[in-house]
Amino acid sequence: MAKLKILEFPDPRLKTVAKEVKSFDAGLKKLLEDMTETMYSANGIGLAATQVNVHKRLLVLDISEDRDQLRVYVNPQILSESGEQNCEEGCLSVPGVYASVKRAENVVVKAQDIDGKFFEEQLKGLHAVCIQHEIDHLEGRLFVDYLSPLKRNMLRKRLEKQRKVAAQEAAEHLVI
Ligand code: NI
Repeated sequence: MAKLKILEFPDPRLKTVAKEVKSFDAGLKKLLEDMTETMYSANGIGLAATQVNVHKRLLVLDISEDRDQLRVYVNPQILSESGEQNCEEGCLSVPGVYASVKRAENVVVKAQDIDGKFFEEQLKGLHAVCIQHEIDHLEGRLFVDYLSPLKRNMLRKRLEKQRKVAAQEAAEHLVI
C-alpha cells in the first residue's frame, strides 16, 4: 500500500470529470488500497479518486467512529433524493476550511463493488452528505463551489497565504 498525494484547491485538476470504471482489475484493487490508506492516514471520512489525481469513478467512505467500516463505491449514481439538510462540511482538498452546505437528506445510490457487482443502497444523514460530497468530486465539483464567488475568493487568498507562510517556514528551518 502507498499513501497518495492529495490535490488541494485551487488545483485545476480537481475540476476533471472522472471516467466510468470498466475494468475491475488488479490495478483498480491497488488504487482502492492506496486510497483507503490515504483516507485513513489523513483522518478523512471520505475520499474520491479525483482527489489523488486518478480520474476514475471510485470513492471510499468510512463514517464510523472506530474507523472500521470501509464502504467502497465504483461508478456511483444517485437514483433519487428527498428532503434537505445543512451540514458543516470540510474536505481533505480544502484544508482548514469548513462551510455549511445544503444537501438532500435521503438518497438512493446505485453503484458497483470492487468486483463489479451492482448494489443499491438507501442512505440518510451524514452518510448521505458524504456520498453527495464525494460524487461531486467525481464531477469536478468542490463544496466551496456552493459558496458565493466573494467567499470563495477570500478562501482562495487565505489558502494561498497559508501555503506561502508554510513554504517560507520550511525554507528557514532544517526539515529532515
Ligand atoms: Ni472532499
